[in-house]
Amino acid sequence: MCGIIGYVGPRQAQDVIIGGLRRMEYRGYDSAGIAVVADAGLALAKKAGKLANLVAELAESPLPPSTQGIGHTRWATHGGPTDGNAHPHASQTGRVAVVHNGIIENFASLRADLEAEGVTFASETDTEVAAQLLGREVERAGSLVDAMRAVCNRLEGAFTLVAVDALSPGRIVAARRNSPLVVGVGVGEMFVASDVAAFIEYTREAVELGQDQVVEVTPDGYEVTSFTGEAAPSHPYHIDWDLSAAEKGGYDWFMRKEIFEQPRAVSDTLLGRLDGEGRLVLDEIRIDDAELRRVDKIVIVACGTAFYAGMVAKYAIEHWTRVPCEVEIASEFRYRDPIITPTTLVVTISQSGETADTLMAIRHAREQHAKVIAICNTNGATIPRESDAVIYTHAGPEIGVASTKGFTTQIVACYLLGLYLAQVKETKYGDEIRDLLSELEQLPAKMQHVLDGLDQMAGLARDFIGCKSLLFLGRHVGYPVALEGALKLKELSYLHAEGFPAGELKHGPIALVEDGLPVFVVVPPQGRDQLHDKVVSNIQEVRARGALTVVLAEEGDDEARPYADIFVELPKVPTLFQPLVAVIPLQFFACELATLLGHDVDQPRNLAKSVTVE
Ligand code: M6R
Repeated sequence: MCGIIGYVGPRQAQDVIIGGLRRMEYRGYDSAGIAVVADAGLALAKKAGKLANLVAELAESPLPPSTQGIGHTRWATHGGPTDGNAHPHASQTGRVAVVHNGIIENFASLRADLEAEGVTFASETDTEVAAQLLGREVERAGSLVDAMRAVCNRLEGAFTLVAVDALSPGRIVAARRNSPLVVGVGVGEMFVASDVAAFIEYTREAVELGQDQVVEVTPDGYEVTSFTGEAAPSHPYHIDWDLSAAEKGGYDWFMRKEIFEQPRAVSDTLLGRLDGEGRLVLDEIRIDDAELRRVDKIVIVACGTAFYAGMVAKYAIEHWTRVPCEVEIASEFRYRDPIITPTTLVVTISQSGETADTLMAIRHAREQHAKVIAICNTNGATIPRESDAVIYTHAGPEIGVASTKGFTTQIVACYLLGLYLAQVKETKYGDEIRDLLSELEQLPAKMQHVLDGLDQMAGLARDFIGCKSLLFLGRHVGYPVALEGALKLKELSYLHAEGFPAGELKHGPIALVEDGLPVFVVVPPQGRDQLHDKVVSNIQEVRARGALTVVLAEEGDDEARPYADIFVELPKVPTLFQPLVAVIPLQFFACELATLLGHDVDQPRNLAKSVTVE
């Protein structure tokens, strides 16, 4: 949601800011704007719609030259996506301009107070309250940084604010509470942004900011303080990917690139996890073994695709550790008074590490004295920072709004955690763990094999272009894969798609089946138990009622094949690992169909990459 950037240095701020906003487009937005500090004061431009509208406006009426400014892509919350509601917002005097990500919960009362004092508002946003307060406070306090602290102490809710003051050239002040903000440290130039993609072109050195901190940046440095003005700790780090990772590299969509990156991403997530004696090592787990041995319940909390990764993980973790494992949607978790004790291990899964609901769930769990392990793809994000330990997935930046490599690497990280717990609790022998790890290490090659055969799914997308509704069925770990297949289609194609556990079919969903309805079925590997045969029966049931069956099953599955209108062959893998290969054709199918329908695959309508408000 909302992308924020601030720049101060020797370059033309407009170019840096527009470039940075372009790299943050993936976060999701519906208007964009920029403000620079020029010799004659602040100059602003803002437009509803895509960044291209703002760029066209700037081409017609360029801003004055300036080497300091702020920019924003807005995902509307308070007030529609209009030119007037787009950020930056200026104070009534025109002295300061502010961009904001988050929601200022007490904006209505603050606005009423300001209006009673004669302030006239130009927009319907909560943000403008911060701009007006800052404009008044800077006159009183004298410096932008002091004014920012004073304003932050009056705001409730979630916010990242970045501000410029026409009377303080060469200086940007930013603050954060519950919303992301990172500082980019260049040579003689500095950046602040919602994420590092905004400035990766210029520097790979970054600084994480903590909760309730204010940072003042000038071309030569930065100073971090708390909301009360004391010096505050900050954490410099090196970004371990470069500009090429944030570019499409010849693909039409980031999503397509990310689908094809999955074997590499999974390999990287598995890399370096065994010690010289073949024992699994997770260096990042800073919870001692005695404490892990005491864990008697695991609760996985996540949203969207990450939640489905958690559903897959539950099967594996319970099977390997024999510890009960619940999976819960983060937005529901803390509102139902969950039973969390100091021996509960809470595992959060988040690609971005900034999802507000997941973050709030962590805080709730820690208040109950549970230990929290985060599985996250974004170095230094708020969720890992606020957790007791983190297992990073090494997927590289995921820019397509639809999560793909995020999903598969999250599953792999959960498997590593499950096997580690099994090792610590001795619920599996060392050689069993080693065998499973060695099976896992073969997964990237098998995923590559699936990627090499995706032409079939491209053809299928062409055949299904007129469909209005599609169903996805699966059982056991195939069930979350079915849900994920349906979610990918919904978010990219805007078609009605549902995922069901195949065993539930006769309890209701089968009524949806009619002539020609495409039904995708994820079939468990043959042999191990009766699940396979039951799913094959389900395929026959829907086919008998006119469904067009797309059957994803293991190669050589001659029992499922006769009932498949389209048979999608998957490599042989153990049941628990099947999601890693089965999800790929579904991801690709959704990407293809949305492309054929003329949709923006990387930035589907109404969606934001990371949902930083509740
Ligand atoms: O960054 P997170 O993993 O916390 O995001 C969670 C969901 O918002 C995310 O997975 C969402 O469902 C994706 N757009 C699905 O493709």
